[in-house]
Amino acid sequence: MKKIFVFDTTLRDGEQVPGCQLNTKEKLIIAEHLERLGVDVIEAGFPISSPGDFESVVSISKQVKKPVVCALTRALKPDIDCAVDALRFAKRKRIHTGIGASDIHIKYKFRSNRQQILLQAVWAVKYAKQFVEDVEFYAEDAGRADNEFLAKMVQSVIKAGATVVNIPDTTGYCLPEEFGSKIKFLIDNVDNIHKAIISVHCHNDLGLATANTLSGVLNGASQIETTINGIGERAGNAAMEEIVMIIKTKKLKFYTDIDTKKIYQTSQIVSKLMNMPIQKNKAIVGRNAFAHSSGIHQDGVLKRRENYEIIDPKDIGLDRSQIILTARSGRSALKFRLQSLNYRVDDTTLDFIYNEFLKLADRIKEVDDRNLRQLMLQINNQNYEH
Ligand code: KIV
Ligand code: ZN
Repeated sequence: MKKIFVFDTTLRDGEQVPGCQLNTKEKLIIAEHLERLGVDVIEAGFPISSPGDFESVVSISKQVKKPVVCALTRALKPDIDCAVDALRFAKRKRIHTGIGASDIHIKYKFRSNRQQILLQAVWAVKYAKQFVEDVEFYAEDAGRADNEFLAKMVQSVIKAGATVVNIPDTTGYCLPEEFGSKIKFLIDNVDNIHKAIISVHCHNDLGLATANTLSGVLNGASQIETTINGIGERAGNAAMEEIVMIIKTKKLKFYTDIDTKKIYQTSQIVSKLMNMPIQKNKAIVGRNAFAHSSGIHQDGVLKRRENYEIIDPKDIGLDRSQIILTARSGRSALKFRLQSLNYRVDDTTLDFIYNEFLKLADRIKEVDDRNLRQLMLQINNQNYEH
């Protein structure tokens, strides 16, 4: 079994989302939950971006005990100096520096050329290495970069001392097969690749962030860069809970140190503090991920949960699956809910209650326990009147 390191960037890539900004106190709460969850690395921020971000990296560095605390920089001296300062209290620290690797970025963002970019990349790693042992290099927009040039860049930064090399699909452009081949190409063509950890950082512009991250891992990457609930720039980053639960559910030949029973709670805290609601049908942590409302599915789940669930809700920290009563629900679900509210009903009475229940469900859509108790009261009262 190979360990996959989990690098969490909720507090950096996730926090860049408009409306998701956090104050230092809120970031400390999330960092505490991430540590309990078992992530290996917490990317705490981009210190040069604002005094607030700098302070947050300082405070997180003081608080966090086990995970590595990481700070983002561009391949520039002021950025690296600032990150070194912000990380001074961290027990285990990492500088994450990098530069564009695709021709689009080289030409239009940096107005430079491959040769100059390569020199700057090597310089940045060597400079950061004077202050910290653990230096991660990101080859921005690697998803759209020429593989030969990318390999040259990766080889050069590892030679310069990079301990981790991040291959980001910055624009979420790759197909899973394409991204996996890119990782394989690097593994096969970079002589010193075994001296560094290869990391994958995928964005979700085409809805492929999870698939691409997985493809990266299947092709040799040992670190995944993810966020809780998949929050992040534009369509977001790969969602941590998805990759971790894929590895567990499919019994792949990998493991992470994530305590999956803490996933749900962490997801809720991040959603609340970042003011970012979770879409109801979001895989793993959405409200409906373990909810069953159609009669056929409810009947199946009540007979045996595995009929319609591939994950035990307890594995992510939820008590149980949910049976939602709507006009699409069947008798068995209604009976189950009535029994859980301590009503004992025989089959003839159930038929009658079920008809009344359907009329109510057509009107109010979802029938909760309170509605059900009221319905039972009305039915009982009618029986007395007769
Ligand atoms: O998506 C990206 O390329 C990034 C880098 C800064 C690592 O977030
Ligand atoms: Zn990113």
